[in-house]
Amino acid sequence: MREVVVAANWKMHTTPADAGDLARTIAARTREPGVTRVICPPYVCLEAVGVALADADPDVAVGAQNVHHELAGAYTGEVSAPMLVGLATWVIVGHSERRRDAGETDELIGRKLGRALDAGLRPILCVGEQLEEREAGRAADVVDGHLRGALEGRDPAATHAGGLVVAYEPVWAIGTGRNATGADAAAMADAIRTSLDALGWADVAGAIPVLYGGSVTSTNVDTFFAEPSIDGALVGGASLKPDEMAGIVARAGMTARARGLAG
Ligand code: 13P
Repeated sequence: MREVVVAANWKMHTTPADAGDLARTIAARTREPGVTRVICPPYVCLEAVGVALADADPDVAVGAQNVHHELAGAYTGEVSAPMLVGLATWVIVGHSERRRDAGETDELIGRKLGRALDAGLRPILCVGEQLEEREAGRAADVVDGHLRGALEGRDPAATHAGGLVVAYEPVWAIGTGRNATGADAAAMADAIRTSLDALGWADVAGAIPVLYGGSVTSTNVDTFFAEPSIDGALVGGASLKPDEMAGIVARAGMTARARGLAG
């Protein structure tokens, strides 16, 4: 049975002074057996969050929101995978905000993913179409391109063993309050697994968790967890609110129990 994951992407929110307290509060409000919880704060808050969680609840993992595609060098302001070791055990790659603002290409994202895996960091690979692409009926094609661009040539078994998670995040649903329907998200999760099959990943495609992200809240999360092909959520705005995270992870716990993951 596939893992159930709720990952919090705090984006450019919190400071080293307040991140630890927020992580501690969320950890205390989200104890649900069988749910993998990950908090991804800004780089500068990784240490504070890690220290807080080691004390409050070591079952909550810490993730970074990005990683550089080189190991070291003259890259002012960047952070490499080896630098994250000890501070994080997960990392988001390919977020649409970085594709948009930093011009990240699929090829570059694939290199980041490789660096993450080499450093023992579990990658959350984000894929998702723009509104015009969806309206043109191209959503599955776009996501197929994102997956192919980042994963082609990579060993499926090793990548799965390294803990790859795919997050389907339609760009038009991010931060807009306009979430996808459960049925549309599930259709895209199925399309993602079809793309993985076509890439020669059939042996592991059914085992890789696919999360939905884009305006997830405690109110709409049920529509996603009601879909068997969806294995969790990548949460932005609502992940900064302990009440919201409590509701989202509680619903994830129901799925974990139904899947026999709760022990
Ligand atoms: P929102 O939940 O704020 O829409 O953000 C989703 C997201 O981008 C998570 O990575």
